Amino acid sequence: MSDSEFSDRKILQSWHRNAAPWVRAIDSASIASRRLVTDAAIVAAARAQNPATLLDVGCGEGWLSRILAGCGMEVLGVDAVPELVQAAQRRAGPGEAYRRLSYEALAGGALSRRFDLLVCNFSLLGKETVERLFAAAPGLLNPGGHLLVQTLHPLEACGEGDYRDGWRPGSWAGLGGEFSEPAPWYFRTLGSWVELFARSGLPVVELREPLHPESGRPASLILCGSPR
Ligand SMILES: C[S@@+](CC[C@H](N)C(=O)[O-])C[C@H]1O[C@@H](n2cnc3c(N)ncnc32)[C@H](O)[C@@H]1O
Repeated sequence: MSDSEFSDRKILQSWHRNAAPWVRAIDSASIASRRLVTDAAIVAAARAQNPATLLDVGCGEGWLSRILAGCGMEVLGVDAVPELVQAAQRRAGPGEAYRRLSYEALAGGALSRRFDLLVCNFSLLGKETVERLFAAAPGLLNPGGHLLVQTLHPLEACGEGDYRDGWRPGSWAGLGGEFSEPAPWYFRTLGSWVELFARSGLPVVELREPLHPESGRPASLILCGSPR
């Protein structure tokens, strides 16, 4: 296994370990940037596509699926971590379903149906797993469908490191002492994200940079791609 594949694997190990504190952090809305900016931003970006069916990729405990199902969409949320999928299932209302599925399984054809919209909200953290998922994404979309990604804004996430793609050490900074074993994550420049969408046959058709109301800095990057 390459170092990069090893790092990809550590990401899931970390989410298995931190599922319980993650559910508590979401339930208590303790992540200020989510509360103030990025939750509303991804809901608005998803609704703008007016999808009837949606796949929430890396759905966590399912908050986004719940909101979008409440807007009338038929939603399937998938995540590899059983504790998170079970939390989502316990709270599911009409129009929502959840399955335990890894990106590797998705890329391997585990789902035989297609969707109008794939949403990845802060859930694309690795390298090879993400690239395989992107390669499989066109096969999960209905004609005219879209792939929507919200991620850390590269300008803000870059920090002191070189502005080039690469693995970065993980941190749970700002999330409190309950979290442990942060996993490395794969930094991508803005150009690299755009290139990944294009390479997967889903060129970017819309880009949003929601601003943090207090700092005036970009709180996230939202990219939307669609088949040519
Ligand atoms: C930061 S959380 C975001 C969760 C949710 N999208 C949200 O907005 O709250 C990242 C999620 O990605 C999931 N994830 C990461 N790598 C994955 C993989 N290879 N397969 C399936 N899920 C994965 C984790 O289990 C976790 O639930």
